[in-house]
Amino acid sequence: MAIQISPSILNADFAHLADEAAAVSPAADWLHVDVMDGHFVPNLTLGLPIVESLLKATSTPLDCHLMIDDPDRWAPAYAEAGAGSVTIHAKAAGAPVRTLREIRRHGSRAGLALNPAEPVDPYEDLIGEMDMLLLMTVEPGFGGQKFLDLVLPKIRRARELLDSREASVWLQIDGGVSTETIERAAEAGADVFVAGSAVYGAQDPAKAVESLRDLAVA
Ligand code: DX5
Ligand code: ZN
Repeated sequence: MAIQISPSILNADFAHLADEAAAVSPAADWLHVDVMDGHFVPNLTLGLPIVESLLKATSTPLDCHLMIDDPDRWAPAYAEAGAGSVTIHAKAAGAPVRTLREIRRHGSRAGLALNPAEPVDPYEDLIGEMDMLLLMTVEPGFGGQKFLDLVLPKIRRARELLDSREASVWLQIDGGVSTETIERAAEAGADVFVAGSAVYGAQDPAKAVESLRDLAVA
């Protein structure tokens, strides 16, 4: 199981996104881009035009996390623009199978996200439609929240389901990932870690990525 770290630019300086991307690019596997629409979550961030500009500004692949209503309508455009990965929230999608397939058809990895209170078992039959399962370890909307330990059993359950189907689906967690919490999430079976404030709140963001990786691998 290869460990990957995806720093979230939600916690970066939005006036200098290209520089902020460059600050982590030597160490990061992905750049996590939180798209929020002010409806699905009570916060508003950025959309497709900024993603298109970021794609030109960095060679680190973009991991776009869409916290928006009606992802069926909007998600394929992010894939078409060139995002390496596009994740939609199960709760927001009216036709998740079609949308995951559309994302893949445009050449991106397709991700499905579940909030802390949403069980994973109802989505077992969709495993073959996704490249990544994202389990939120905070309620989505804001950076800097506390990691929810109550998600740990679900991470274990998801790992079991993915392994039993021999699926090469990545298991991502997002929210409250830090040097304090990453080990127990890795032990439970997560392999892709989003980290916002733990990376961009550090003096040296690239070094913070490496410290997280070392702890997750150990
Ligand atoms: C929260 C976002 C996260 C956020 C994580 O809704 O999806 O990606 O940036 O920030 P931290 O790591 O500070 O919890
Ligand atoms: Zn996110």
